Amino acid sequence: MSSVFANVLRAPEDPILGVTVAYSKDQSPNKLNLGVGAYRTQEGKPLVLNVVKRAELMLVDDQSRVKEYLPIVGLADFNKLSAKLIFGADSPAIQENRVATVQCLSGTGSLRVGGEFLARHYHERTVYIPQPTWGNHPKIFTLAGLSVKTYRYYNPETRGLDFEGMLEDLGSAPSGAIVLLHACAHNPTGVDPTIEQWEQIRQLMRSKSLLPFFDSAYQGFASGSLDADAQSVRIFVADGGECLAAQSYAKNMGLYGERVGALSIVCKTADAASKVESQLKLVIRPMYSSPPLHGASIVAAILKDSDLYNEWTLELKAMADRIICMRKELFDALQAKGTPGDWSHIVKQIGMFTFTGLNSEQVTFMTNEYHIYMTTDGRISMAGLSSRTVPHLADAIHAAVTGKA
Ligand code: LMR
Repeated sequence: MSSVFANVLRAPEDPILGVTVAYSKDQSPNKLNLGVGAYRTQEGKPLVLNVVKRAELMLVDDQSRVKEYLPIVGLADFNKLSAKLIFGADSPAIQENRVATVQCLSGTGSLRVGGEFLARHYHERTVYIPQPTWGNHPKIFTLAGLSVKTYRYYNPETRGLDFEGMLEDLGSAPSGAIVLLHACAHNPTGVDPTIEQWEQIRQLMRSKSLLPFFDSAYQGFASGSLDADAQSVRIFVADGGECLAAQSYAKNMGLYGERVGALSIVCKTADAASKVESQLKLVIRPMYSSPPLHGASIVAAILKDSDLYNEWTLELKAMADRIICMRKELFDALQAKGTPGDWSHIVKQIGMFTFTGLNSEQVTFMTNEYHIYMTTDGRISMAGLSSRTVPHLADAIHAAVTGKA
């Protein structure tokens, strides 16, 4: 019997989430998933933050809570508190009511809604994304109706920032172009500009009227400090100019599956912000109508209660610190083995990922021979590593680099 869908071609797995699919099929007891950026404990288990459990218990106990639809823009408290979290409590943009914030489906949803809004209402349809960047960025913006170009970002030689290349490419972008910037903990490279470099980027972008669109998926996860990790965004907001910011609570609150995030558009006037919000509603309503209630309620409960908020910052810092320890342990293990090459980028890069510099053949070798799963660009999620698994990874890298099977 032939199906009307018989001619549908099989699509490839997602380059990041497909790694987890392959990992799940592996029967080896030593298998290790360093593909998707998802935090694991020292025992290799997913972590539900204690503060999240406390907030959930409070929500369940609150008899006044109902399951009505949220407004199209989401939970009002959540939106206000999210803007405060990224822009800072004393942000003039917030005080002057110049920010339109809408609750979206985590980082991806926020980027998509922002992209669709820009495609409809902004005069320049080109978005510049770093090379390399998170694999979903070009797909999100293309489907949103923007045309995607890249700017140089990473220098494979130094395994650091290609600052000159970045400034040159942004300098030759057409005036008004949109520029996607990773607020901190650049994915996949783990390489961020310094604050001084951010300031130079800001000056250049403002001089050319380039529109910054920040992707903030790791606030607090890079340095362990929520404020330090928002500095890049805040220096752009401080100059009174426009910008967009997509926030995700997947990593920093461990709310991956709750799909909770926010899109903020900072405008120059309160009137513009309220018109922008009215148009964002027109983007959201036919896409998913209104966002889900539960995750945003957890986040709002934590952000508005000083006791819960403080507990969150401690748990967040503990996650960031554990990742930093894993960097050190992996670096030390490779040093101890005398693995050829300079591996100091493992400790220099920040955030969830190390961009190892391993090529796709070496990655395939490590997966086939050592059951270690990672993306083919050589990115490893440091958050998936533990003291117990570091030696296994070091053995695999050593064998891959020295060509010893
Ligand atoms: C990642 O890069 O691993 C994460 O941002 C998860 C994802 O959705 O790709």
